Amino acid sequence: RDHRVGIETSPVEMHPDLESVLLPADVIQHRIRQLGEEISEDLSGDPIHLVGVLRGALPFLADLMRAIRAPVTMDLISVGSYGAGARSTGVVRIVKDLEDSIEGRTVLLVEDIVDTGLTLAYLRDLLADRHAAEIRICTFLDKPDARVRPIHLDYVGFTVPNRFVVGFGLDYAQRYRELPYVGILRPEIYTAGHRAEA
Ligand code: PRP
Repeated sequence: RDHRVGIETSPVEMHPDLESVLLPADVIQHRIRQLGEEISEDLSGDPIHLVGVLRGALPFLADLMRAIRAPVTMDLISVGSYGAGARSTGVVRIVKDLEDSIEGRTVLLVEDIVDTGLTLAYLRDLLADRHAAEIRICTFLDKPDARVRPIHLDYVGFTVPNRFVVGFGLDYAQRYRELPYVGILRPEIYTAGHRAEA
């Protein structure tokens, strides 16, 4: 194993529950460095207050904050839905609120994925109500085919197809978050009643 930076000598073994790797680890890291450059240029001068949305955004947030060449601070928020029936209303439940006030601050909301857009739309309104000076949104993945509520995204890592993606923070039943790459989950893993054929 060669540990020199940027040299990958052992190919990543794909998790057996995946049908393919959509975004290899080196591709993700390269894109995060680009996003960091872009954000640093756009928001230069202002300290940037990163607000990560738990739990999925954690790996992305950790890498992104180290790719930004400007002073940053960060805080975390955790939200949940009120149940399937309330989902379409876009009202989310705050499970863990921010620690610090965002009043007058330049906030960068950091998400792992935007699906329907309901979570981010709610969070953006919430932060606006708390009088942030500026709110920008950065998402690792965008799944536009699933959008219910349109929302402007300032920074997008990758646009992905409407498939079940896991890894790099994204889970299925709390699994696969630790994978350093993003893959497409085999349908038999999440399809109830499926019998694996020999
Ligand atoms: C995911 C993701 C976003 C939200 C996106 O969170 O992290 O917060 O769903 O979906 P939407 O655009 O349809 O609202 P999830 O509830 O799975 O929690 P997690 O981050 O802890 O996995």
